[in-house]
Amino acid sequence: MGKCKIGIVGFGTVGTGIYKILRSEVDLHPILKEIEIAKIVVNDVNKKREINFENNLLIDDPNILINDPSIDVIVEVMGGIEIAKDIIMKSLKAGKSVVTANKAVIARYGSEIYETAAKQGVYVLSEAAVCGGIPIIEPLKRSLKSNHIKKMIGIINGTTNFILSKMTNEKADYKKTLELAQNLGYAEFDPTADVEGHDAADKISILSELAFGGKINRDSISTEGISQINLKDIEYANKLGFEIKLLALSERNHINKNDSLALNIWVGPSLISKSHPLATVEGVNNALLIEAHPLGEIMLYGPGAGSGPTAASVVSDILSLHANTMKNNASIDPLLSFNFWRNCHIIDSSQITKKNYLRIICIDSPGVIGKIGDVFGINDVSIESIVQLDASADKAEIVVITHEVSNGSFEKSKEEINALNEVEIIASQLSCI
Ligand code: NAP
Ligand code: HSE
Repeated sequence: MGKCKIGIVGFGTVGTGIYKILRSEVDLHPILKEIEIAKIVVNDVNKKREINFENNLLIDDPNILINDPSIDVIVEVMGGIEIAKDIIMKSLKAGKSVVTANKAVIARYGSEIYETAAKQGVYVLSEAAVCGGIPIIEPLKRSLKSNHIKKMIGIINGTTNFILSKMTNEKADYKKTLELAQNLGYAEFDPTADVEGHDAADKISILSELAFGGKINRDSISTEGISQINLKDIEYANKLGFEIKLLALSERNHINKNDSLALNIWVGPSLISKSHPLATVEGVNNALLIEAHPLGEIMLYGPGAGSGPTAASVVSDILSLHANTMKNNASIDPLLSFNFWRNCHIIDSSQITKKNYLRIICIDSPGVIGKIGDVFGINDVSIESIVQLDASADKAEIVVITHEVSNGSFEKSKEEINALNEVEIIASQLSCI
């Protein structure tokens, strides 16, 4: 069997993991020995690294790989957006297949990238871009293709789940735990993408395109992160029988008269009942619950970030490419590649109904709970529970959990509650599953 020559762009957390797998002496399938690393592109060839390289393996110009006709596959694991996109596009145009872990690029430029790959008769595979080591892209492309997918809901960012787990279990400090996640190689180069929910929004956008077949306008995904969550919310949620998790949801709604599939997609910190399967997902682990017909419900679970797990996903994509091109007269496999087959759009958040959690700080005066309850009642917002959880000096903290109500009515109630004389501030608002 022939060799598959690859060029790797990026040798950080993920790149190092790829190198270790490909140089590993453990008992793996013999096809791995056919993968040959031609060169590795880094920013700074003189940087001190944990690995001693054979001669001249490191270079700093990706064009050397792109222009080398002997290289079959470019592996993009450098991160960033515009430069990485440029390298991916140039590689495809040079007739090379690409493996990438870059969700930020695929979520924004997937359509252009998939189209170029199809035109050039090559592939772009991105298993590592979503949920690190969990096989999720391949199942959506192939194993689940005979199912009508209704809904996906999951924890799809490792850094934020790591932080929330430590805040919940150890009352850990948010900032220090984020630093720890960075040191462990979980966080993005700019961790704002993780903590503000943008990384999860990139990922749910990619998953939605694969599951529902239409291009998603990434910028219209309603996105909230965890930077405003404090230990008090976690404590109150726990008292009421919930965990707080950063969730991403994507769900079919209706098909409009232009035959476009309306989707409800959002990312946000949410209260989730302790009995829900996602509530037990701890640390850097991710999980995605998929509701499909006729399959029913499945949950894919495992490490969502980190060097080894993510690298394993990258290497499995390289193997898929190699195995595919080994076939005689191999033409493009329509399932391994990806093309849109319909139009999709995201529904306006005012049309969505959900359960909500609200923490209100107010003056501890008689009748305040009744007044808050009245505002919700007038606006047709049904309440599941309303409790006073803390009273110190003259202040009281009131926590409300609503039933599933329209966003419009809920927002109107919030405005009116804010205007009550007794109310100091609405300290936090979260979704509730
Ligand atoms: P990283 O540790 O920051 O490594 C980035 C690598 O790219 C470094 O080797 C750096 O070179 C190189 N690089 C950066 N800019 C470059 C440029 N302009 N030209 C050439 N090389 C350049 O990043 P990472 O954590 O491995 O992440 C890489 C990608 O994988 C990102 O898209 C990320 O979102 C994705 N991903 C990461 C994880 C994870 O757990 N870390 C999981 C899933 C997906 P130097 O070494 O010389 O600085
Ligand atoms: N920063 C990402 C996370 C890496 O924490 O989930 C995996 O995509």
